[in-house]
Parts: sequence; structure tokens; C-alpha cells
Amino acid sequence: MKKILIVGAGGQIGSELVTYLRGIYGGSNVIAADLREPANPVIDGPSVKLDVLDKSAFSYIVHKNSVDTIFNLVALLSATGEKNPQLAWDINMGALNNSLEIAREYNCAVFTPSSIGAFGGDFPRKNTPQDTVMQPDTMYGVCKVAGELLSNYYHSRYGVDTRSVRFPGIISNVTLPGGGTTDYAVEIFYSAVKGEKFVCPVRDVYMDMMYMPDALRAMVELMEADPAKLRHRNSFNIASMSFTPEIIYNEIRKHIPDFEMTYRVDPVKQGIAEGWPDNLDDTCAREEWGWKPEWDLASMTEDMIRAIRAKNLK
Ligand code: SER
Repeated sequence: MKKILIVGAGGQIGSELVTYLRGIYGGSNVIAADLREPANPVIDGPSVKLDVLDKSAFSYIVHKNSVDTIFNLVALLSATGEKNPQLAWDINMGALNNSLEIAREYNCAVFTPSSIGAFGGDFPRKNTPQDTVMQPDTMYGVCKVAGELLSNYYHSRYGVDTRSVRFPGIISNVTLPGGGTTDYAVEIFYSAVKGEKFVCPVRDVYMDMMYMPDALRAMVELMEADPAKLRHRNSFNIASMSFTPEIIYNEIRKHIPDFEMTYRVDPVKQGIAEGWPDNLDDTCAREEWGWKPEWDLASMTEDMIRAIRAKNLK
């Protein structure tokens, strides 16, 4: 990776990936592209306004800057996708399709995240294997499975260097997630630090989660991995922690003992969460490219509270 383009750079993952990659590869070598003007313009490197569905504008940026790696982070998440499935398909698949086609033409590597949301149907909920039944019943999941297959196709058919991980819910303290089923695991921290009672939309369900520093490192380690060692490509299970709302609530209470939580279950989110794995088996990622998480529930919770307290929110 020498010249990198991040599309969807203003989102939860993109906003931190831009800074992380600029720290490694140099500010001028990481171009941040998003549909919206950045809320907090980043000054340590180039940024452009781009609608990824506009293929010729996307292609022009790749060509003009001699981009060799595309991180495609454009997506509507699971709960938003159920509100407008057609739009989710158009955006999620359109962004991927254009990324792959442009990568084929300009010989770029492509990273596109898949998700725990790619699983569905009759698969093992506990220690969900790398290769198993994937019959999701959300539009988000349908796009993720189709995206995994399409990315593998571009690799085998055209030799495009496509790689991906199945992200769990990502917990972070810079940019809020939006429209996901796992968002509660971020929002709960803001309520706790602000001294508010948290109203949780899902109940008694385990989902995999990951702290942002592990997610950022995973992307770079996979993209830098020796291709000869990769038996899988799109997409690797990765895991670091799995909990229910009650478990994370109790962990936060170790730091903020008077924090209160109540439930108002959102049937759409609850249904989605129950259809997803409890926890993924990430053996293949560990074996093929050395994946190993560094953060667990206790260390992540302590760090999230510290970081959100430092924002001095009212
Ligand atoms: N965080 C995503 C969601 O909840 C899952 O990949 O939709």
C-alpha cells in the first residue's frame, strides 16, 4: 500500500482509519473521500468530495492520484437497511461494484468490510465457523454475502487483490455509528458518562464486538499479509469479545456504580440480533495472517469511559 483511497471516509470506521493510515503511510498518501464535506476538515492530508456511485468521478480520482489500494467503507447498516432495502442494495452493492471495476482497470487492491450480519439461517450460533451456512434475512446481510462472493469472483476471475474481514459491532469514541444493530454498545457509554439512564433496544442477546484500535490494526495487517498464506480472502471471521447488554452494563457499573439501564426493545433490532452469531470462531484469521486481538471487555470499557469523559460532554 503506497497510495490509498478511502471511500466513505466520514463514517464511524473511516474517520479513524484516515488518521491511522496517515500515521503509517504518510499524510499525502491517504486520500479521504466522502459524499459529505467533512464536519471537522482533516488538515494532515488530501480529502475530496465524492459520490462513489458516480463511477467516472471515482475512476478519475483513482487514475489522477495513481491509487493502488481502495478501502471501500460505504454502506447503510443493518437497521437502516430494513427501513429502505432497495436503497441499501443500491448503495452497498453500487459502491462495491464500482470499487471492484475501477480496481480491475487500475490494478488496485480492495478492502471492503463484511460483517457478522452476513450470517443467517441454520448455522451454529456459538463459535460460528469460518465456512458455514450464510442465508441472512436482512438486506444488509444479503449485500454482505453477495459482496463476499463478488469480491472472491474478482480475485479468481481477474486477479484483483480483494481482502476482507467480517467485522463485529465496532466500539469507538470518535464518530458515532448510525443505523446499526450493534450501535447500543457505543451509545451506552455516552449515557453512562453523561449520567443519563440508558434505554437499551435489544435484550438478552450475545453479539460479537470489537474496540476500534483492534479493528484498525486488523485491516492493515490483513492488507499487508503475505498473499501466499491466504487460503481465504472474502471474508475472514475475526473476534475479540462477545457480550449481552446486561454484561456490558455490569462492566460499566464497576466504574460508574449508580449508572442505570432499562429496556425498550426495538423488534427489528432484536430480530436482527437474534439471527446473528453469538460469537465467531476466528481460527482461520489467526492461522493465515496472524490475527490476535489486544483489547477485551474490561480494558475497552475502561478506555471508552476515559476517552468520553475527556470530551467534557454536558
Ligand atoms: N455494526 C453493524 C450493524 O449493526 C454490523 O456489522 O449493522
